[in-house]
Amino acid sequence: MSMLDKVMAKARADVKSIVLPEGDEERTVEAASILNREGLARPILIGSKDKIEATAAKVGADIEGIETIDPAASPKKDEYAALLYELRKNKGVTEEKAASMVQDPMYYGIMMVKTGDADGLVSGAIHTTGDMLRPALQIIKTKPEMKIVSSSFLMDCPNKDLGEDGLLVYADCVVMPNPTAEELAYIAVAAADTAKKLCGFEEPRVAMLSFSSKGSAKHELVDKVQQAVAIAHEIAPGLLLDGEMQYDCAIVPEIGKSKAPGSPVAGRANVLVFPDLQAGNISYKITQRVGGADCFAVLQGLNKPCNDLSRGCSVQDIVNTVAMTAVQAQE
Ligand SMILES: CC(C)(COP(=O)(O)OP(=O)(O)OC[C@H]1O[C@@H](n2cnc3c(N)ncnc32)[C@H](O)[C@@H]1OP(=O)(O)O)[C@@H](O)C(=O)NCCC(=O)NCCS
Repeated sequence: MSMLDKVMAKARADVKSIVLPEGDEERTVEAASILNREGLARPILIGSKDKIEATAAKVGADIEGIETIDPAASPKKDEYAALLYELRKNKGVTEEKAASMVQDPMYYGIMMVKTGDADGLVSGAIHTTGDMLRPALQIIKTKPEMKIVSSSFLMDCPNKDLGEDGLLVYADCVVMPNPTAEELAYIAVAAADTAKKLCGFEEPRVAMLSFSSKGSAKHELVDKVQQAVAIAHEIAPGLLLDGEMQYDCAIVPEIGKSKAPGSPVAGRANVLVFPDLQAGNISYKITQRVGGADCFAVLQGLNKPCNDLSRGCSVQDIVNTVAMTAVQAQE
C-alpha cells in the first residue's frame, strides 16, 4: 500500500472537518465534492453561498450536504472578532480591526480552527504561503513542546531501496529561511514526528545534512549543524539522529559506512534535515524534477493542523493535502 493509500485509509477511519477558505475557487469546490463523496473529510467551504453554488454548477461538482459559510452573514463573527481582539490586542489590533479581519475568509477559517469549530485548514490554491502562514502563526501558534513551525516534504521516490520503501522525509523546505542551530534541532525533531505519525515510519532515522561528513570540512556553517545535532540529542534523547553528514553519506549504505563508520543513521536515513531553506527547497525540487519523485508538503509544529497548497495545484493535490491534514488532526 502506498503512503498516500495509507493516509486515505486513516482519514476515512476517523473523519475530520477541514475548512477551505478559498471556498469559491474552482479546484477547491471540485476537491470538496470528492472529499465529501469519498468520506475523506467533512469539507467546509468559506465564501458567499451564491458564488460557491455558481462555481459548483460551472465545474459540475455536487456540493449537496457540504457546509458553506459566508463570514459576513455568520452568527459566529462577533464571537470570533472578540477572541481575535483578545489574542492580538497587544500587537496593535483594535476591536474594529478584529471585526473587519474576521470577514476575511482566511482569518475566519483560522478562527474556526482556533476555536475547535473545524479540525484543520487547507488553503493556497490562490493565496501565497505567507498569506496563510502568517495568520496561522499569529493565532494558532506552535505546539507547547515546539519552539517553531516548519515543514516536511514527503518524497515518494521511484527507487524503492531508499528510505522506507522509497519514501523520504525532507525538512524544512518551506518556512524557516535561515534557522539557528536550536531551530534546526527543532525542525529535526518535528520531522521525525511527522515521519512517525503521518508516514507511519516505525523508526525515524534522522540525518542532519551538510557539505561535510563527521568533521571532513571545517567551516562555521558546519559548526552550526554540529551544534544542532547536540541540541537535538538533548531535546529528544531516544531519537536516532546523527550528523553532520553529506547527502550521499546519509542514504547510500557503502558511503555511510566509509564516511561515518558506526553511525546508527548513515547510509539508511529516512528523514533528511537540510541546513537552511535554500538547500531544502532546491533539493526537494531536484528530487521531484530529476529524480521523478512525487512530493507532498505538510506544516509541522502548529498547535492545530493547517496546510498550504501550491498555486499550480491540481484538484487531486487538494484532496491529498486535505486527507493529510485530517490525519494530522487525529492526533
Ligand atoms: C513564515 C513567514 C511567512 C513569517 O512571516 P513574517 O512576515 O516574517 O512574520 P513575522 O516575523 O512578522 O512573524 C509573524 C508572527 O509569526 C511568528 N513566527 C514567524 N515565524 C515563525 C515560525 N517559523 N514558527 C513559529 N512562529 C513564527 C512570529 O513570532 C510572529 O508572532 P507574533 O506576531 O505573535 O509576535 C516568513 O518566515 C516567510 O516568508 N518564510 C518563507 C516562506 C516562503 O516564501 N517559502 C517559500 C517556499 S514555498
